[in-house]
Amino acid sequence: MKHPKRYTITAALPYTNGPVHIGHLAGVYVPADIYARFQRMQGNDVAFVCGSDEHGVPITIKAKKEGITPQEVVDKYHAIIKKSFNDFGISFDNYSRTSAKIHHDTASAFFEKLYEDGKFIEEITEQLYDEEAGQFLADRFVVGTCPKCGFEESYGDQCENCGTSHNATDLINPKSMISGNKPVRKETKHWFLPLDQYESWLKEWILQDHKKDWKTNVYGQCKSWIDDGLRPRAVTRDLDWGIPVPVKGAEGKVLYVWFDAPIGYISATKEWARQVGKDWEPYWKDSETKLLHFIGKDNIVFHCIIFPAMLKAEGSFILPDNVPANEFLNLEGNKISTSKNWAVWLHEYLEAFPDQQDVLRYTLTANAPETKDNDFTWNDFQARNNNELVAIFGNFINRVMVLTDKYYEGKVPQPTTFIEADTQTLKELRAYPAVIASSIERYRFREAQQELMNVARLGNKYLADEEPWKTIKTDEARTRTVMYVALQVASALAVLSEPFLPFTSEKLKAMLRLSEGDSAHTWDSVSKDQNVLKPEHIIGKGTLLFSKIEDEQIQEQLEKLQASKKMNEAAKKDVTPQKETIQFDDFTKLDMRVGTILEAEKMPKAKKLLVLKVDTGIDVRTIVSGIAESFTPEEIVGRKVTVLVNLAPRALRGVDSEGMILMTETPDGKLMFVNPDGEGIENGATIN
Ligand code: 2FM
Ligand code: ZN
Repeated sequence: MKHPKRYTITAALPYTNGPVHIGHLAGVYVPADIYARFQRMQGNDVAFVCGSDEHGVPITIKAKKEGITPQEVVDKYHAIIKKSFNDFGISFDNYSRTSAKIHHDTASAFFEKLYEDGKFIEEITEQLYDEEAGQFLADRFVVGTCPKCGFEESYGDQCENCGTSHNATDLINPKSMISGNKPVRKETKHWFLPLDQYESWLKEWILQDHKKDWKTNVYGQCKSWIDDGLRPRAVTRDLDWGIPVPVKGAEGKVLYVWFDAPIGYISATKEWARQVGKDWEPYWKDSETKLLHFIGKDNIVFHCIIFPAMLKAEGSFILPDNVPANEFLNLEGNKISTSKNWAVWLHEYLEAFPDQQDVLRYTLTANAPETKDNDFTWNDFQARNNNELVAIFGNFINRVMVLTDKYYEGKVPQPTTFIEADTQTLKELRAYPAVIASSIERYRFREAQQELMNVARLGNKYLADEEPWKTIKTDEARTRTVMYVALQVASALAVLSEPFLPFTSEKLKAMLRLSEGDSAHTWDSVSKDQNVLKPEHIIGKGTLLFSKIEDEQIQEQLEKLQASKKMNEAAKKDVTPQKETIQFDDFTKLDMRVGTILEAEKMPKAKKLLVLKVDTGIDVRTIVSGIAESFTPEEIVGRKVTVLVNLAPRALRGVDSEGMILMTETPDGKLMFVNPDGEGIENGATIN
């Protein structure tokens, strides 16, 4: 009996500003789930935790866009994301959320401990500030050119192009995401984690201790950051959404989302331990525990440098044993993009392919972006299903079920003499658990799944060679042995497929009547001489495990993407982005009327301005309008126009302008009137 090992397995907490798509599943959650399920099957003690990342600027931006509160945003998407993970069989022991009280308490206590131990630098520095919005511009509230790679759309805290994490003040040509303005710099106090002080420790820990078993992409990124030199990082922000900084003099400030989010792994473990009556501490503090972070490549710096430095600073926690980060999954040759709706959303997938979760899991693992970015295509999805799951796995199981039913009324037959082909097949079969396990232990899930399919291939080849459908007429004893061996392969598939294809595994176990928790049907039992399915055992009725995916279904998905492409192309035509949502009351404050231009003349020494006299129906007033480059005074006299009449008067070149004429613009820059054209419209008519 092996001594069970304790595993704390974390999967990146998704931002709660939208649903999850196939890229999330392929890069993080499916590999993490395969690993967690596998370790549980080895009898190990596993805490597999995750939760919604509910703070940070992306949530606030989404709230502004949708005209709802950040809390409403996270409540909405937390429910959607949680359901998607559940629907796809991601077997978290706990899926928590960072707005939970237990998390606020845990993150605050963590900060306080570091604060009290003098681990932070407290400093007044200049940060970017949007004067129009009256707000500091942290993280994703600001974009600019990345100082490292020159990418022009880098966020304030991280460049999505090269992955570098930086300070917002490092950006070249920064621009506010709120107003579009160039920010100014303004002084404010923050708390910094002096990463530079951890540099030599990190060098030793990552570069010397771990380089042999960390993935090359992960190790390479860490090395490059450390070689570039580390600098102190602010762990607080001037924002109103997040966990309040729990010290005096920090009113109006919150913890940086990347400070609180990884602590979410700890809070999720605590919450789970409380629910199941366990002690959470060994999962985070016992040096025998293996801590693993499953993430995407954009999260490497936070999990390999910043969070370990935080844990080290705190002093009582273990550090990650490995961070098996994946690269990105593309979709039909293009980067997955939420804003461009270039994605396959999990909840939408299930509407199109109900009960076919394992097909997606299978395809995503087969194409997992383990060492480089990879591509998901609908044609490949169809081929993987039809040519592999249906034709290899499904076909083998179907033949075994049908023949066992037909020849033996569902009873596992008593074998007679084993010939070389039988013993060889059983020998090969018994080697698979170790082969698959070895790939999983090295985070090579594609390879592991290929080996699983080789088990089905082994079964198919065996049946094709031994042809029980022929021997049944000539050699009844031989047929019994063949079907007995084939049934062992089927039951091995039921067990070994569980980490990869949990729904299929469950169905197959039910079909073979392998009872849950029966010690005979474990990963290890497949490798033992003692066979899994005993003679006389009665199996159940077979149902199809997989069904063919038709061309029309694929066409439908491709058309959906095509529609997104068209929308994006239309949007690319330089349309100004939609402004923040306003309420109806805001709109009714605008008093717009139909008016007529009575007089027009050029404003002396001003190229763009015309001085107009406009009959608004209420009165005749002067309006200065910037339309001189598009119209001569003569051509506009007598024109009906739309006038904003309750705009506060302002002086333009010494002339008081008492309203505004509404204009639009052609793509080549000519201004046009928003023209209230129609029979019987009179000056003074309201526009609403
Ligand atoms: O990249 C993201 O989606 C982040 N929300 C991941 C956070 S992982 C963790 F540290 F919580
Ligand atoms: Zn960059």
